[in-house]
Order: sequence, then structure tokens, then C-alpha cells
Amino acid sequence: TTVEWEAESYDMGGHDTYMHKEISEQADAVDRVLRGRIDDRFSTVHLGGLNLDAREARGVRRVKILGCGSAYHAGQIGAQLIEELARIPADAEPASEFRYRNAVVDPDTLYIAVSQSGETYDTLAAVQELKRKGARVLGVVNVVGSAIARETDGGVYVHAGPEVCVVSTKCFTNTAVAFALLALHLGRIRDLSVADGKRIIAGLRKLPEQIAEVLRGEEDIRKLAAEYADAKSMMFVGRVRGYPVAREASLKLKEVSYVHAEAYPASELKHGPLALIEPAVPTVAIVPDDDLLEKNRATLEEIKARSGRILAVAHQEQDKADHTIVVPKNEVELDPILMGVPLQLLAYHSALALGRDIDKPRNLAKSVTVE
Ligand code: G6P
Repeated sequence: TTVEWEAESYDMGGHDTYMHKEISEQADAVDRVLRGRIDDRFSTVHLGGLNLDAREARGVRRVKILGCGSAYHAGQIGAQLIEELARIPADAEPASEFRYRNAVVDPDTLYIAVSQSGETYDTLAAVQELKRKGARVLGVVNVVGSAIARETDGGVYVHAGPEVCVVSTKCFTNTAVAFALLALHLGRIRDLSVADGKRIIAGLRKLPEQIAEVLRGEEDIRKLAAEYADAKSMMFVGRVRGYPVAREASLKLKEVSYVHAEAYPASELKHGPLALIEPAVPTVAIVPDDDLLEKNRATLEEIKARSGRILAVAHQEQDKADHTIVVPKNEVELDPILMGVPLQLLAYHSALALGRDIDKPRNLAKSVTVE
């Protein structure tokens, strides 16, 4: 309920900024999105508000995810999870683009609108356009009873709790977890095995403690932020699962520190952006311990050969990198969720070092409810 949220939202709980408070709350927030939803008997999850029965879920041939800003990036992680776990072709698109391009609306596609506030005008307009054309639209929304929550046919509440800082942190993480739940649910109705269902559930249960572990490394990340604070621009790279992580981290840094940043698929570096690499343009590389590890290591070498500084986010020290933030290993599908967390702290401490107005960055609003 709105009143309760507002009262709570004024309390900074001993933190200097809401951003720091909200980053610090993530272990509890993730615990909340999982609570009461895991079904160990069938190695799946229950999502009470989905409003999509098993027969309907089996009929879905494609998933299209729409959102803006961080919600769009969380949707990209969501699309990959749905494709991997449920083997349904899925992709994410900015809602603002979708609503203006007279998209083909297909009856076998499940549309999902993603929004923290549930009030973003572009996302709401996309939902209304889809409904008008008879599509089935679900919401992955944080604010209960918001416009998007009301206008969708059903959905998954993100339960991140109130997010006050203009930039999204805990809601981004919780949205990615909510998508993991949805992907697991859709997967177990289709071909995801019991063993894989169990594996993902065990991974989900580990997340709160692993997030807490990442947050305990804050002091090291603060030092790294100071080390890279002189950057003219920052390059963020990742492959497949790492790419949405790179995009969100790049957005976060831009929003709160005003340092120019770009995100690229690591594989695309050689097709242009390598020209930018020099000591004043460091790279943050997402290097999970997955089947692309060797490819990512080769990227680190390419950057080093152009005398670029490298900060890697990885599951083990990277010898080609100048610095590595080591994060705990989970299941490969869930790794992106954890790898985003230290980069929220990096953006936060960069902004702090540069003396920015962290909770209210210039020119930005928490929710853009106008055209
Ligand atoms: C604004 C905020 C972003 C946010 C986006 C979507 O641009 O500055 O931080 O990600 O809106 O907001 P929503 O409430 O729809 O998730």
C-alpha cells in the first residue's frame, strides 16, 4: 500500500544516500521475491498472479519483453533466462521504440511489460497498444496496484520494496530474479528436467547469501572506483549473459557519475570500438566462468595489447586484467544476477568520489510519466 511505502521511504536507516541503502538491502529483497514461491515437490515455482494456465503457457511460441532504462536491461536478462530455461525464443526491446514502430502483434506471442514504478508512460502506452490489438500482456512490476499492474492480464510482482533513489539498483536485481522464477515456471511446464529445476532452485536459494558476500567487498570496490575516477570514458564489455550486465553497469555509471560510458558485446570490440582503447579509456569486462571464458580471456588480451586498463568482474582472478572483482559462483544461468551487484557499488563510489548528487542525478526523474 502506498501510504506504508511513503512512510518507510523517508527513513534512510543510517545510510547517507538512498542509493547506498537500496544497494545494501538486496539480500533481503531477493529473499522476498523468492519467499513462498518455490515448490520443491515439483521442482518449480508458483506464481499466484500470473493468470496463465499450463495449457496457455504451452501455447506460447515467442516472448517479447518491453521496458525502459534499467527495466529494459533487466528484461534482456529475462529474455535470455526464458530462452535458456524454457527454450522459447525471447527478446527484449525498449518499450519506447516498440510503441512507435507498428510492430506485428502475434497471437502466439506472450508480451511482458517490465517496470519498477508501473507508471512509465512509454511502457504503459505499449501495453495499451498491445491490449487494443488483442495481445496477452503480463507485467513484471514492483509497485503494487500501479497503472501497468492494473492494465496487464496478470504478472509477477518483484517485491523489491520502495526504491527512492532515481537510479534503480535493488529493483533491477529483483526483476532479474523474478524473470528467473518465470523462466523456471515456463521451463518446467515444457522440457526443463526435474534435475535442472532442482539445480536452478538451489542456485536461487544461494543468491541472498552470495549477494551479502559481494556487499562485504565494498571497501575494495571503493578503492577501485578511486583508481578509475580519472577515466575519460569507460568501456563495458560482456558476451551473451554478460552483455546485459555490461549495459546496465554502463548506464548506472553514466546516470550517477556523469562519466561517459559505452557497453559493447565483447565480440564487437574489434569491429570499431577498439579504436577508442587507450590508458584513459579503461574497460570493465564481465568474465563469468562459463563456456565463453576462453573467448573473454582473448578479449582481455586484445585490450591489453592496446595498453588499455582492465577491471574484470569474474569468478577467479584474471591475470590479464589490472584488477579483478571476484564474485561467488552460482549456476551459469544465474551468474549475471550476481555480477551486476559489484558494479552498482562501482558506480556509487565513482559518483561519490566525484561529488555528484547521487540520489537525484541532474536531468533525470525516477519515473517518466509523460510522453
Ligand atoms: C527512468 C529512470 C530509470 C528507470 C526508467 C524506467 O528513466 O530514471 O532509472 O529505469 O525510468 O522506469 P520504470 O519505473 O518503468 O522501471
